[in-house]
Amino acid sequence: MLSRRDFVSSSAANLAALGLVPAVWGSARADDRIKVGLVGCGGRGSGAIRQALDADKGAVLWAIADMFEDKITACLNGLSKPSEQPDGSEVASPYASRIDCPKERQFVGFDCAEKLIASGVDVVLLCTPPHFRPMHLDAAVKAKKHVFCEKPMAVDATGVRSILESARLAKEQGTSLMSGFCWRYSLPERAVYGQILSGDLGRVRSVHATYHTSPIWIRKREPSWTEMQFQLRNWPHFLWLGGDHIVEQACHSIDKINWAMGNRPPARVTTLGGRAMRSGEEYGNAYDHFAVIYEYDDGARAFLTTRQQHHHSNENKDWVACEKGTCFINGWAPQETRIDYADASRPAWHYSGPTPDMYQTEHDELFAAIRAGKPVNDGTFMGLSTLMAIAGREACYSGQTLTWKEMLESKQHLVPPSYAMDATPPAPVVPVPGQYKFG
Ligand SMILES: NC(=O)c1ccc[n+]([C@@H]2O[C@H](COP(=O)([O-])OP(=O)(O)OC[C@H]3O[C@@H](n4cnc5c(N)ncnc54)[C@H](O)[C@@H]3O)[C@@H](O)[C@H]2O)c1
Repeated sequence: MLSRRDFVSSSAANLAALGLVPAVWGSARADDRIKVGLVGCGGRGSGAIRQALDADKGAVLWAIADMFEDKITACLNGLSKPSEQPDGSEVASPYASRIDCPKERQFVGFDCAEKLIASGVDVVLLCTPPHFRPMHLDAAVKAKKHVFCEKPMAVDATGVRSILESARLAKEQGTSLMSGFCWRYSLPERAVYGQILSGDLGRVRSVHATYHTSPIWIRKREPSWTEMQFQLRNWPHFLWLGGDHIVEQACHSIDKINWAMGNRPPARVTTLGGRAMRSGEEYGNAYDHFAVIYEYDDGARAFLTTRQQHHHSNENKDWVACEKGTCFINGWAPQETRIDYADASRPAWHYSGPTPDMYQTEHDELFAAIRAGKPVNDGTFMGLSTLMAIAGREACYSGQTLTWKEMLESKQHLVPPSYAMDATPPAPVVPVPGQYKFG
């Protein structure tokens, strides 16, 4: 007769054989390596692959994909080149021996992600501009790959619905899905949001998050580029590719608002904003500042102010005011403090634990989960935080207060007429409140 333990483990093995639940790594495989595929090898992708290789000594870079060949060359060169020491000597790259990615597993162009997913990879790192995230995640999850995907998850509500469906499927089949909402993997932030969510301070009444920073890079137009290539090379400035900076960048702060509020959506969203310091084709159609009010059904309010402007003071902080105290969060310091109103003369608590690199922690946890056959799934909050960011943008563009229901039902889908380098991308029309129609 089978014991309960035998039953559970033999069921797990059967399900694994059916591809429904991943077996503990190694128990069902001759090759103990974890084959990683990187899609989008710019700044973040080049960092993410290092973190993946550092996370697991059996991980190898198996395949690489980018829209442009020069980006692949730069990424592979960067990974394999020796580092120069202060005395002029060279030390071999720790990653050079972990690259098993011959030319036939280097993919370029609009269909590069699909080819990479079919190349025998186990884990896919999705680090392209967010426009492509829903379609890449859909393909990777349907192919039963474990996925790390950078924030934000999409640029429109149609994309978010696709992301949520992929997250549901990943959970059902038991593959891991981790997001690049990296503050969720920062130990100081876990501790301070743990204080807030413990209920010790009572309910959250108000949150204020700031993301005040300088403009992002611009790549000068080259004569040989088509308009599609120009926009792809400058994706953060084009709505259909990057979603505007409130979605692309300030989504980190919005995710922390969402975290403080217990991962529950606001009821209504109102936003002010505009484009005070941006002109010229290189700035596409993105705004340069937003101020959002998120209203919750229980009367709580959250505020986000964000800008990408020159010559201004910069700040990236969070204040979470609860019934009995307030938490102050300066993640980059790091400095996480709690004040109780009963004795506000000194902090009742501050974080004093370890501060490992959150980007490394997320990959450490992802690869440990894959090895252990215990999938992680960030699906719910990563979809919700992205839709909150899109709601902030759409409320601003339209000049209207939007309800969460309207956001969930939005049919917006920002797509070009076709995916080809000689196709005409969407015209970079700057939205004007009063003229712009939310839909
Ligand atoms: N978690 C974080 O703190 C953090 C930090 C920086 C960037 N990001 C996110 O990472 C993503 C990438 O940002 P980045 O700074 O690396 O940008 P980047 O421009 O440096 O890199 C993006 C790369 O994707 C390539 N690409 C474009 N379309 C592609 C496609 N369809 N298929 C394959 N490759 C494609 C580009 O050619 C480029 O090499 C963005 O979503 C960004 O918001 C997250």
